[in-house]
Amino acid sequence: MTFLWGVATSAYQIEGALENDWTEWERAGRLKAGAEGCGEAAGHRRRWEADLALLPSIGANAYRFSVEWSRIEPRCGEFDEAALALEARRVAFLGRLGIEPVVTLFHYTHPLWFWREGGWENPRSVAWFARFAGRVADALSPRVRLWVTLNEPIVFILGGYLGGVIPPGHRSFARSAAALENLLRAHAEAAAAIRATDSSARALIAHNMLDFAPDRPGHPIDRRLVSEGEALYNLSLVEALATGKVRWAFPAEGRRVFRLPELPASAGYFGVNYYSRVHLRFRGLPGLAGEFFYRDPHRRGLTQTGWEIHPEGFERVLRGAAQSGLPVLVTENGIATVDDRVRRDFLREHALVLAHAQRTGVAVHGYFHWSLLDNFEWLEGLRPRFGLYEVDYSTLRRKRRPSADLFARLGQQFTRAAGDGSSFASPA
Ligand code: FCB
Repeated sequence: MTFLWGVATSAYQIEGALENDWTEWERAGRLKAGAEGCGEAAGHRRRWEADLALLPSIGANAYRFSVEWSRIEPRCGEFDEAALALEARRVAFLGRLGIEPVVTLFHYTHPLWFWREGGWENPRSVAWFARFAGRVADALSPRVRLWVTLNEPIVFILGGYLGGVIPPGHRSFARSAAALENLLRAHAEAAAAIRATDSSARALIAHNMLDFAPDRPGHPIDRRLVSEGEALYNLSLVEALATGKVRWAFPAEGRRVFRLPELPASAGYFGVNYYSRVHLRFRGLPGLAGEFFYRDPHRRGLTQTGWEIHPEGFERVLRGAAQSGLPVLVTENGIATVDDRVRRDFLREHALVLAHAQRTGVAVHGYFHWSLLDNFEWLEGLRPRFGLYEVDYSTLRRKRRPSADLFARLGQQFTRAAGDGSSFASPA
């Protein structure tokens, strides 16, 4: 089997038109100032067949998408069979196109009932999520062989339980630790539920990783912040999946260590979402360990989301991910820009780094670009343009960007080079 070369999306970001915690959050006016709500996003809900039919033309052999929990289980314990059947049709459609489906079960959004029942701080959340995973696996197995149980659990916990900037909007270290523990347990139980349906299926977590640098290279505390940031943000999950030991320590906030012995056997791959680098700076303010900034030392220009373009850091995070002992899938990588030349440079440079990492021993088995289409970006609304296809939000028409052609050409190189049998489906 070949190297997986594809694009990634998530339901809320392209389909919209939902009733979940994010729609409530938007209605409460909690998006970044000036950002518009999701609405029907890219209108993918009605146009999904035409959109998926684009995949072969961009040279993709795989497609990562998410199944929306609030649609499948609108009330606790009540499953919508029509919604499950739609997902099965989607997967069958991908099968006819020769595209490997990769299904994400949690991509930031939750059904409203989930929060009314206490959300991730309620230990029952583990069983609820595993039941949801099992139902979806029943509907989609054995066609779906790769399952992303959780998208970016650390970002979700930091943003939702410490920073208060995404649902559920808390700011408490104790709550963040409780939620993280249940979330990781939920991953392991969901993986077990999936394997109970199809023992050859593989589960993974898509983990956002950043490259870190001290804002003042000679400043000892900035440097210490870098190692603490790296340990918390990048490596806590690597260690957790490698050993079952979870070290959740946030400078100036708190520290919790717990063991989840079921974690190491739970994942068949390590998923990496890589976008950028941050610079950390010590401020010496009470209750504030430090601050982070996106800088542009190479003068490549910051992206529409204000992120540094930093392909050099890609290799470092891939090596960090490989410390998990698992083969790596790049589950997301991409750029928000209206200048498609910048997107092409980004693609080319990240592809070069990826190839170099592979040549020098990092077992990377796939790459998913974020994203197929322009879509709703969580904090920023519809302004950032991440798509290989442009979306005109007034007409919902799609227009191919030249970067889609480059993506197809790069894909040929990666899939050809992997004709060596580095198979994602080979027994782990
Ligand atoms: C990642 C998210 C994804 C998308 C990209 C830009 O952190 O997983 O949904 O918003 O960022």
